[in-house]
Amino acid sequence: MTRPPSADEHVRMAHRYFSSFVPDYHRAFTGGGRDPLHRVINTLFRRRTFERRMAIVRGFLEAHGVEGKRVLDLGCGSGEVSLMACRLGAARVTGVDLVPEMVETARWQAAEAGLAERAEFLVGDVHTVSLPEADVTVMVSVLEYYAEIEAVLARTCAATRELLILVDTRGPWWRRRLRHLLARVKGFRIYYRTPEAFSSVAARHGLGERARVRGHAFWALAYRRTS
Ligand SMILES: C[S@@+](CC[C@H](N)C(=O)[O-])C[C@H]1O[C@@H](n2cnc3c(N)ncnc32)[C@H](O)[C@@H]1O
Repeated sequence: MTRPPSADEHVRMAHRYFSSFVPDYHRAFTGGGRDPLHRVINTLFRRRTFERRMAIVRGFLEAHGVEGKRVLDLGCGSGEVSLMACRLGAARVTGVDLVPEMVETARWQAAEAGLAERAEFLVGDVHTVSLPEADVTVMVSVLEYYAEIEAVLARTCAATRELLILVDTRGPWWRRRLRHLLARVKGFRIYYRTPEAFSSVAARHGLGERARVRGHAFWALAYRRTS
C-alpha cells in the first residue's frame, strides 16, 4: 500500500502545479492559452467555470456589502476576486497565494486597474502565514487540493469577523474523473467534499451557513458569524 502524502507534500504538489502555468491560468478568464493542453481546458472548462463562480461570489459580496470593509482573499491566484472586492468599494483587500508568480500577476493587475493603493498581495501558505483579521474572507477553489482541511479552516474562521465565502470544485462524475486524470498527469491531488463537510467545521468555529449555490462544477457557500 502506498503512503498517503503528508501535509507538506500537498503544499509542494499544489505549488508545483500552479507555478507551472501561471500566465495560462490567468488567460482562462478570457479564454485561450499558450500551452495546447491548457488552451483546451481553458476553452472547454475553466472559462465558463470562472465566469460563473465570479458572478456568484460577486452576488454574495454585494448582498453582504463590502464598502469600507477589510477583505481577505486566500489562495488569490491572479487576483480577480480581490480586484472585484476593491471595485465593490472594499477599503483594503489582502490577497495571499503560495505561488510568487501568481502574486506578481495580481500586483500587476491591481496597478493596471489603478487599485494598488487598496490591494496588497502577499506570498504565503494559508496553513502557516499570519492572517490579518478581516470583515469578509473569500477562499475560492483552494481546499480541494488538501486532504486535511480542519486546521486551515479553523484559522480562516478565526480571522473572519462577519462573512466567509468558500467555493469548492465538484461537478458531475465525468468531470471529476477528468480532473483526477489531470491531477495524475500533473502530479497533484484533488479531494471532493460535500458542503456539509465545510459547514460542520465552520459551525464549530462560530460561522453558520447562510447561502448555498450549486454551480455546474462547484459549490459556493456563504457563512455568517454567529458567535
Ligand atoms: C484554482 S486556483 C484559484 C485562484 C483564485 N482563488 C481564483 O478564484 O481565481 C487555486 C490557487 O490557490 C493557491 N494555493 C494552493 N494552495 C495554497 C496554499 N497552501 N496557500 C496559499 N495559496 C494556495 C494556488 O497557488 C492557486 O493560485
